[in-house]
Amino acid sequence: MDIISSRNVVNIIRKTLNLIDDRLIHHGERVSYLLHKMLTCENRYTNEQILSYTFTALLHDIGAYKNEELDKMIQFETVNVWGHSIYGYLFLKYLSPLDDLAEIVLYHHLDYSKLNRLNSPSGKIAGYLNLADRIDVCLMNSENPDIDRLMEDYRDVKFSQEAIDAFKRADEKFHILKHIKDQSYLEELNRIFEEVNFSQNEIEMYLEMLIYSIDFRSEYTVMHTITTVSIADEIGKLMNLKEYERSILHYGALLHDIGKISTPIPILEAPRKLTDEEMNIMKNHVMMSEYILGDYIQPDILEIAIRHHEKLDGSGYYRGLKKEELTLPQKILAIADIISALCGKRSYKESFNKETILNIITRDSANGKVCPDTVDCVICHFDEIMENVNKSTYKPIHIYADIKSKYGNLYKKLVSLV
Ligand SMILES: [Fe+2]
Ligand SMILES: [Fe+2]
Ligand SMILES: [Fe+2]
Repeated sequence: MDIISSRNVVNIIRKTLNLIDDRLIHHGERVSYLLHKMLTCENRYTNEQILSYTFTALLHDIGAYKNEELDKMIQFETVNVWGHSIYGYLFLKYLSPLDDLAEIVLYHHLDYSKLNRLNSPSGKIAGYLNLADRIDVCLMNSENPDIDRLMEDYRDVKFSQEAIDAFKRADEKFHILKHIKDQSYLEELNRIFEEVNFSQNEIEMYLEMLIYSIDFRSEYTVMHTITTVSIADEIGKLMNLKEYERSILHYGALLHDIGKISTPIPILEAPRKLTDEEMNIMKNHVMMSEYILGDYIQPDILEIAIRHHEKLDGSGYYRGLKKEELTLPQKILAIADIISALCGKRSYKESFNKETILNIITRDSANGKVCPDTVDCVICHFDEIMENVNKSTYKPIHIYADIKSKYGNLYKKLVSLV
């Protein structure tokens, strides 16, 4: 059995995306529901294809972490909202198993009249998604939106006749607007996503994509998560954890800072040490991680993820647990998190060298803060650990750098194209 089920991966994604911004709560879910029903009426796609498109639609705004752009996205006239479309596209293309559907996200704000000229194999679904997205924006902005008028006003310009017909058929048959209004679509969406069946590799890819896309809000956090996972993996191996424990440690490490989706960017990116008040806000990320993951992952992974700031003497947060209450994988992640932070470059500090890092963890161990056995293991094998960490983080760190450079090029190309 999978350690985290496919259905719960979808649930974690849904819950996390709903935290991007208050104004986007359930937006991705409503849009994916609308698209699902539009496609179901067409009798042209297999169930599997429809499910892939529906899931892509759920993720369509995954690149939307910049607030300035969010302001524009939720207005009807979407002038220059390429930023989140391009990031969403790059995340799907390079970090998910949905690479062949990524253009659906890239073009989800492109008018039909322009989309038509691009000859993208994903053009049709992108156009449907655009209509579904704009319908939902109208629903969000008005008590009594005139959807027919919206479609008539922009027929053949923003929306194709085909997309409009698909929506009308679906609404007639399934009363989709009514289900959105009374919220019953959420139940149905649960049923739809019960059908997803990801492989172990896909589960891991989706979770990584989710974490990296959150971490994209701040360059420092991306590096931090990638490095923490790898250090935890290495220590777990060296301390002879059983395969199952290594596996839950890996997932706990991957998900440990997921709650940072709610931490304001100026705090994540502060070019200095945080003030007490900022630190208190920062500490909330652990509670948020529990909120996001609590219902959807098994307790042993959850506890690893949310205990990474606990200290053996009870002085950590947010529960102030003591050493008797902490398991070895939990203690390993706490140290991996510290080492990763010390290795990381911040705008106000260079990365620390080996000697400084070992001095700091040795002091923390002597002061009863962190696990002495784990610290001993790190001291004995530091070079080996870091060599393997450099090897295994090489690929994700390069994908990250690549996404950043591709973003700039694509942006120029697309803005000039349309
Ligand atoms: Fe969008
Ligand atoms: Fe959207
Ligand atoms: Fe943390």
